[in-house]
Amino acid sequence: MTGIKSYIDTHKNRFVNELIELLKIPSISADSAYNNDVLKTAEATAKELKKAGCQHVEICETKGHPIVYGEIIIDTKLPTVLVYGHYDVQPPDPLSLWNSPPFEPIIKCTDIHPDGAIFARGACDDKGQMFMHVKALEIMNQTNQLPCNIKFMIEGEEEVGSNNLVDFVKEHKKKLNNDVILISDTGMIAKDVPSITTGLRGLSYVEVEVTGPNRDLHSGLYGGAVANPINILTKMIASLHDDNNRITIPGFYDKVEELSSQERNEMAKAPFSLDAYKKALNINAVYGENGYTTNERNSIRPTLDVNGIWGGYTGEGAKTVIASKAFAKISMRLVPNQDWQEITSLFKVHFEAIAPEGISVKVTPHHGGQGYVTPINNIGYKAASMAYEDTFGKKPIPQRSGGSIPIVALFEQELKSKTILMGFGLDSDAIHSPNEHFGLFNYFKGIETIPLFYKYFVELSKSI
Ligand code: BES
Ligand code: MN
Ligand code: MN
Repeated sequence: MTGIKSYIDTHKNRFVNELIELLKIPSISADSAYNNDVLKTAEATAKELKKAGCQHVEICETKGHPIVYGEIIIDTKLPTVLVYGHYDVQPPDPLSLWNSPPFEPIIKCTDIHPDGAIFARGACDDKGQMFMHVKALEIMNQTNQLPCNIKFMIEGEEEVGSNNLVDFVKEHKKKLNNDVILISDTGMIAKDVPSITTGLRGLSYVEVEVTGPNRDLHSGLYGGAVANPINILTKMIASLHDDNNRITIPGFYDKVEELSSQERNEMAKAPFSLDAYKKALNINAVYGENGYTTNERNSIRPTLDVNGIWGGYTGEGAKTVIASKAFAKISMRLVPNQDWQEITSLFKVHFEAIAPEGISVKVTPHHGGQGYVTPINNIGYKAASMAYEDTFGKKPIPQRSGGSIPIVALFEQELKSKTILMGFGLDSDAIHSPNEHFGLFNYFKGIETIPLFYKYFVELSKSI
């Protein structure tokens, strides 16, 4: 492909400014106060797709936030790539920890990003990465090098579980028909260590409510004589891990796939510095399931984590009270073969069983999804690998990620196609955290690498 780099060079500033405009709209899918902004972001995304060269763009209503669909079909005999991404973002709080407002993007240089990085909620997850695909289309279109058909499906509910996308995919199989699915919503090992994500963990997310007495009580008059829901909840949560940091829910590990020592040795070859890892997080030790390395703990092993816990008095000063209720939000990251619905019910049965008398428990499932592993012997993976090799000068390393994109397993089930995860973010980009950012180097490298994926995918498709 010719002229890609020079096209990027010529239009660099505009590519950054267009992304900044998108980042200014607070498309927080979890908070209904932002519904209008979510809709505005869908409209802006649709407009950009049209501008980049899609022949047909539509905003598809759902029961929740809309899905933006766009396509450019140049020849039905050629392969079709379906690009998936999301335009919604995580809530930015706690706001006080941001060095600049989350929806007023600014470019700053950091040690890891000496060429600058855009700081804003969604910069990396996923507006920045999704927009690389829009710009890649613009380039291929403008330089007359589009080698195949492209469909875009950009949703607005990824950060809240993609519940409405499930029906959309099931109802529009024909419209979404494709030869491979391409997603940039993951990361890479380091700027000079390109990698392709070959696995995602599944997820089961639940909320628990623990109730004791029918009202909040004076902690002197009643303390010691009735079960305190907060004490009990924390005790119940603590009991969910044993001394080896394994999860104690009966049956939890039954379907977990144990990797062979050969596969584990292969994984261990990926460059990783435990010292640098600890330093970056300012911790003096890592923590996790005995018998597994840090990289294994956060990719091939399942987990259980409390994401939030509340109850009782948390205001200024002290109030002597035994609250009637205590709550927690709990996520379990799952590995392939573990079924998220089955794990959710194992959790529910166990959590209800361990509650002492005098306490009632309510477990409410939020959402979930299956894990995913993509084989590396298909032409999609090979095309991606060749594309990275061209732009980074190095063969990318296959890497299983700890994060989840629950819809990917459903794509395989319903659309019967494999997903290639070409992520360009770094772990240090602080996605979901205050001061999320996306390096300009990564942004432009992504825009440069994506067109090559299309080129190699079409070439390899011809040879089979
Ligand atoms: N893009 C992330 C997932 C991700 C990030 C995967 C980095 C691999 C590497 C996605 O937006 C996300 O945050 N997913 C959620 C799950 C969702 C159901 C809320 C997650 O993993 O917590
Ligand atoms: Mn994402
Ligand atoms: Mn996310």
